[in-house]
Amino acid sequence: MTDVQELLLSRIRDVADYPEPGVMFKDITPLLADPAAFTVLTDSLAQVAERTGATKVVGLEARGFILGAPVAVRAGLGFIPVRKAGKLPGATLSQAYDLEYGSAEIEVHAEDLGAEDRILVVDDVLATGGTAEASIQLIRRAGAEVAGLAVLMELGFLGGRDRLAPALAGAPLEAL
Ligand code: PRP
Repeated sequence: MTDVQELLLSRIRDVADYPEPGVMFKDITPLLADPAAFTVLTDSLAQVAERTGATKVVGLEARGFILGAPVAVRAGLGFIPVRKAGKLPGATLSQAYDLEYGSAEIEVHAEDLGAEDRILVVDDVLATGGTAEASIQLIRRAGAEVAGLAVLMELGFLGGRDRLAPALAGAPLEAL
């Protein structure tokens, strides 16, 4: 494990049985509250944006907003929010998806994405991959290209990487 990985891991808190029994929640608020760790995280994700040649960053509600927005600024790119259904005022594209616990629907403003865009999707956790898969589908339906997916944590035992392989179609998945 690298020094960066040790620092990031040390600031993630495991919370048992949240939001329901049997789920071990990965709480990133200690990391966000530590400016050194948050800066290292932002810089590491911004390096992924630069490596992948992304032209915009998409963040997935809600924790993907907290990480994706500073990454976009650090990398000199625009930020696009992918929101839970019903939160965006303009014309949207929608995609339903299954979650580790429950199901949901996400939306993006259609006008924010176009054929000229290469999108890096940023989120805190890759679990089953349902949220990321739906976001990739939205990006493709909007006509944009997927530069890659960058997450802080990957819960490997849930198989998200395998699930996402067809949707990513060779685009990189980087988990810090
Ligand atoms: C969590 C997490 C990811 C997603 C991962 O978000 O932040 O977006 O679940 O799960 P998956 O890989 O199984 O789809 P959540 O929907 O809990 O929303 P929040 O960030 O608003 O709490």
